[in-house]
Amino acid sequence: MRRLILLLGLLLPRAVTSAEDAVARGEALYHTAGCVGCHSPPGSDRPPLSGGRDNPTVFGTFYAPNISPHPTDGIGGWTEADFFRAMREGRSPEGDAYWPTFAYMAFTKMSDEDLSALWAYLSSQPPVEGTVPANTPKYGKGALGLWRLFEFDAGPLAPDPDQTEQWNRGRYLVQAVGYCDQCHTPRRRTGFLMKRKYMGGGANPGKDELHPNLTPAALVGWTEDDLVRFLGTGEKPDGSRARPDWVMHEKIEDSYSWWSEADRRAIAVYILSLEPVDFDPAAIYADW
Ligand code: HEC
Ligand code: HEC
Repeated sequence: MRRLILLLGLLLPRAVTSAEDAVARGEALYHTAGCVGCHSPPGSDRPPLSGGRDNPTVFGTFYAPNISPHPTDGIGGWTEADFFRAMREGRSPEGDAYWPTFAYMAFTKMSDEDLSALWAYLSSQPPVEGTVPANTPKYGKGALGLWRLFEFDAGPLAPDPDQTEQWNRGRYLVQAVGYCDQCHTPRRRTGFLMKRKYMGGGANPGKDELHPNLTPAALVGWTEDDLVRFLGTGEKPDGSRARPDWVMHEKIEDSYSWWSEADRRAIAVYILSLEPVDFDPAAIYADW
């Protein structure tokens, strides 16, 4: 018996620490993965996790819901498995497909460990009241089904065994967490990504905004240190800064500056290894 108590004494504090660890890692992920920008919009008077950001897109307007543990207004009635299903499969507990403003095409690639940490963080937060307006999509669920069929691959990202651990970490952060490729890759009018122009640059025609080409065809003169600094501060090697009226500025401030230097460096290593893509994102406007 005494031995058992001793054993428990040794084990318990560690169990508590690892639960706290998961909450802390989940909080960092809530920022780096951009959840905060939609579900706790900075500068809004709504409480954290109560959602509310309206996301006007060319496909309609979609409102980020309350994801606090509130039993009716939030996701307090969910199990961890429901949460995994939402993130991995983009489906509600009732089985309805979500609109991809909720970037589950990226989050599906997250590791079990990271999804569990996010769930630990969300579950540890106070429940808050408040619902959001209904979405106003311009297309029916049939369009969503087509998008899912052609564009959505569910499941975690498998590491590339031919690459280093640091490179794999960088690709994971770019594709699963920071979803850099969703903005920095051009799209057709249908919203489909031009996969062969991966990271060749994108645009948000709704906002008259350009997302530069990040491949060596355009990112000339940027070093690993330059990328590490830019992702932490928004400062470019030529001394200029990310424009405050374009979304990268907000992403750095609310999300990417939460990454450790080691993580920003892993991203830099991955970005600098990209295949060159000869593409000018300004050309997207000619097409729209
Ligand atoms: C660009 C805005 C945006 C970002 C970033 C975003 N979400 Fe959402 N989220 C939404 C929208 C919009 C919906 C509703 C989609 C729908 O109604 O089809 C949603 C739905 C959800 C739901 C389902 C809630 C419910 O009641 O059914 C969960 C859970 C969720 N998001 C969690 C997250 C987490 C965790 C992150 C970060 C890893 C995140 N979201 C990032 C906009 C966003
Ligand atoms: C929501 C869209 C969006 C996402 C996501 C996004 N970016 Fe950006 N990015 C932009 C925009 C817009 C600019 C232009 C900013 C400016 O010049 O003011 C930009 C600029 C940049 C630049 C500067 C390039 C240059 O030539 O000036 C780099 C580097 C960059 N992003 C890297 C990244 C990385 C790495 C990620 C993911 C960790 C990322 N971006 C995610 C929209 C985005």
